[in-house]
Amino acid sequence: MRPSFFHHLHPPTIPASQSRFRYTLGAGGYSVFLTLVLLVSGALLMFYYVPTPAEAGPSIQMITFLVPFGALVRNLHYWSAQILVVVAAIHMLRVIFTGAYNSPRRFNYLLGLSLFVLALFLDFTGYVLRWDEGVRWALVAGTNLVDSIPWIGPGLYRLVMGASQPGPAALTRFYTWHIFGLVVLLLGVGVWHIFRVRRDGGIAVPPPEQRSTPQRISRFELVRREGLAALIGTAVLLLVSAFIPAPLAPPMSEVTSQAADSSAPWFFLWVQQLLKSGDAFWMGVFVPLVVLAVLGAIPYLLPAVKPDELGRWFPRSGRPAQVLALILVLAVLGLTLAAALAPPA
Ligand code: HEM
Repeated sequence: MRPSFFHHLHPPTIPASQSRFRYTLGAGGYSVFLTLVLLVSGALLMFYYVPTPAEAGPSIQMITFLVPFGALVRNLHYWSAQILVVVAAIHMLRVIFTGAYNSPRRFNYLLGLSLFVLALFLDFTGYVLRWDEGVRWALVAGTNLVDSIPWIGPGLYRLVMGASQPGPAALTRFYTWHIFGLVVLLLGVGVWHIFRVRRDGGIAVPPPEQRSTPQRISRFELVRREGLAALIGTAVLLLVSAFIPAPLAPPMSEVTSQAADSSAPWFFLWVQQLLKSGDAFWMGVFVPLVVLAVLGAIPYLLPAVKPDELGRWFPRSGRPAQVLALILVLAVLGLTLAAALAPPA
């Protein structure tokens, strides 16, 4: 048989302990699945979406109300994107809470973290493409954070927005980043990340001599489990997309001002809440970058998990990383909740 990427990811047998759902939660695999759904549904949307300020909002209305199965495809795209953020976050926490981030997986942990950031940017740029009254915060206040960065901010802002203030050029830039620039990066880093999982010895479990079970499962069994998981994922996504419509507001009339009651997309509500307590740069750029740097530093600065403690949740030697991750998660969730419950300004 000719070696291929598929065979690299699916060797003839793997230790049974590497494929336990209770251990991985299938979250990495589901992130791949959701990315594939996003690519297919996004490609279908491109047949009807018109990326110009006058036509963007109306074309989304057309997709939703006139195009056969348009609403379903749009809902699939929207829900896959939202669920991907949640599932990738769960995958990251699984990696931290099982101590799977240590050498030799340190670099792959960083690749994963970049994938998470890319997924957030893809969600953000896609959100702006709706070009309706609901996206004003993202378009005005969200992008102003770039402008607030000392020295390089204004130049970077022009690069992102295509002009010195929000306007028609921003739509072209966001569209190109969303359907091309960020997608190419996501695919490149994504394939590398998955390739590295095998390269680093598969999912983190104790070395053979310290394993509690010598059992292995075959490639066939692994593919069978992946197929079953994909079927369940498809059924859940179809159900959600059939019954819960993606948000839609009237098309945006003019782009330069921010409506008082517009708010950040849910995954950046915590940043919006932070901005209420201080300067745009320190609260909106510096603090999120510190959060990212702290997450990235975990495998490099905190003590390594002992090999015999791998392959299970909450190993004792991984306590510092677990506590740190828990504090960050609670802080982000707390701020998100505070922003969601706050009365409109
Ligand atoms: C779109 C985002 C992501 C995709 C598609 C993805 C995909 C995958 C897949 C398929 C696996 C193997 C199966 C599994 O563990 O469930 C994996 C493992 C891994 N991922 Fe990710 N991942 C993503 C994000 C992340 C993030 C945010 C991190 C951490 C910051 C991360 C770090 C790792 C590590 C360290 C492993 C090896 C785990 C182990 O050995 O136990 N990944 N990833």
